[in-house]
Amino acid sequence: MQRALSAIFSREPFSASRNFLITAIFWLVFGTSIGLIASMQFTAPDALAGVAQLSFGRLRPVHINAVLIGWLSMGYAACMFYIIPVLVGRKGIWSELLGNITMVAWNVMMVVGIFGLLNGDTEAREYAELAGTVQMGSTSIQILDWIVLVALLLLAVNAWMTVMTGAEKKWYVSIWYFLGALFWFPIIYIIGNRAFVQLEGLNDAITGWFYGHNILGMWFTVGGVGIMYYLLPKFTGNPLYSHTLSMIGFWTIGMFYAPTGTHHILQSPVPEWLKSVAVISSVFLLVPVLTVLTNFFMTMKGKWHTATEHIPLRFAIAGGIAYLLTCIQGPFQATRSINWYLHFSNWVVGHAHLALLATFSFFVFAATYYMIPKMTGRKMYSKRLAVWHFWLTLYGWIIMMLSLTIAGLVQAAGWHHGIPVDQWVIELEPYWIIRSISGVMIVLGQILFMFNVYKTVFSPEQCEELPHSPTGVVYV
Ligand code: HEM
Repeated sequence: MQRALSAIFSREPFSASRNFLITAIFWLVFGTSIGLIASMQFTAPDALAGVAQLSFGRLRPVHINAVLIGWLSMGYAACMFYIIPVLVGRKGIWSELLGNITMVAWNVMMVVGIFGLLNGDTEAREYAELAGTVQMGSTSIQILDWIVLVALLLLAVNAWMTVMTGAEKKWYVSIWYFLGALFWFPIIYIIGNRAFVQLEGLNDAITGWFYGHNILGMWFTVGGVGIMYYLLPKFTGNPLYSHTLSMIGFWTIGMFYAPTGTHHILQSPVPEWLKSVAVISSVFLLVPVLTVLTNFFMTMKGKWHTATEHIPLRFAIAGGIAYLLTCIQGPFQATRSINWYLHFSNWVVGHAHLALLATFSFFVFAATYYMIPKMTGRKMYSKRLAVWHFWLTLYGWIIMMLSLTIAGLVQAAGWHHGIPVDQWVIELEPYWIIRSISGVMIVLGQILFMFNVYKTVFSPEQCEELPHSPTGVVYV
């Protein structure tokens, strides 16, 4: 117990990054398993009937919050707390203790939030469901919103102080992206959560989707690109292709992402000018996207073959290709006529998994396989398990994507030809079964991933030591 507490509230360099990562992986396995159970309810809707906590309407937000706020966001915090100090020439972040306290607060918030969601306590806004509602007289307060906000501010303070107190004063581009993400996310979070902004009707939908899309654009995209701009040169030994392009990308993401959220509600009576701004800025997103992709693929030049042996690079390449697909699909389905056809169909769920599973989760997988050996001074427990993790997740995702995309087209055709739902919904059953099979593969992949990481961290005697640098340090 004493040892566990001192590991959790440690001041040791990189302990906050390690602890964020270890707990993030727990939320990944939990969240994907809940997604799998939810997916099975499409074909066996009565299997868990009678248990309100396990109904689809409750499991869906549990799945989404566990994978987005638990896994991915905490994974990003881990990456930032490893990469920023290394880039500014510090041994660890400004305050590891504060980083670890933030990590504990984040996990407590997740546990309370998940129990709340299972029991029907939700803000009912996409990606902002975590509530923790406390009734005080006639007013209700969402305490979890406050905890997340404080945690985000503590992350930002720690990151800024690390940069300010580092020996290296010239900022590598990843630092711009991380500090940008940590600047924008708290602002977006305040606008998107009911503890801070409460509006009625359409205004609520508009701010809800301002948040819903910007958590993807200004947090997951900006943070994910920052991670890859650090990792790719490390993996390939090539310098980043163009610093200028990366900075153009940084500022244009900021310019074009902000008004895109309304493209989620094009089929609702929001003002037409707002819809037009959302559609146009969605298409203009191709500008920052092209900067990222050019940098990505040009930095890879001459090094593609190394991915056969280099597992983290494999994840990075797969994630980069998924990013390319996401950015072709996104602006395409944001245009009015395509959106009119595909909206309210499984196509959109496929798109969400393309971005958040195949792109950003793969970036964090790549980072994990890179950082864990550096932080522990040991090779990963098993390369074979890492390879299995890669193929199970990749094939699982491809099968999921195909099944949801085809199901989406069938569903959209049903809507638009005015065919009664009970007739076309039967046609979707095979695709939903295939989606659950893909879910089994993905969950299995994540269990292997968790086992591999935990073995490396907690069973040092079973892992091969890495050679130390002349200064005796492995992790920088
Ligand atoms: C890291 C992995 C994953 C991430 C980041 C992720 C993310 C998401 C997101 C963002 C949504 C909301 C989609 C939308 O609003 O359109 C979603 C929905 C969903 N996901 Fe996942 N997911 C992951 C893995 C899985 C797995 C393994 C399964 C198992 C089959 C799964 C099943 C589902 C289901 C059933 C829904 C609800 C779809 C609906 O409402 O029709 N997810 N997921």
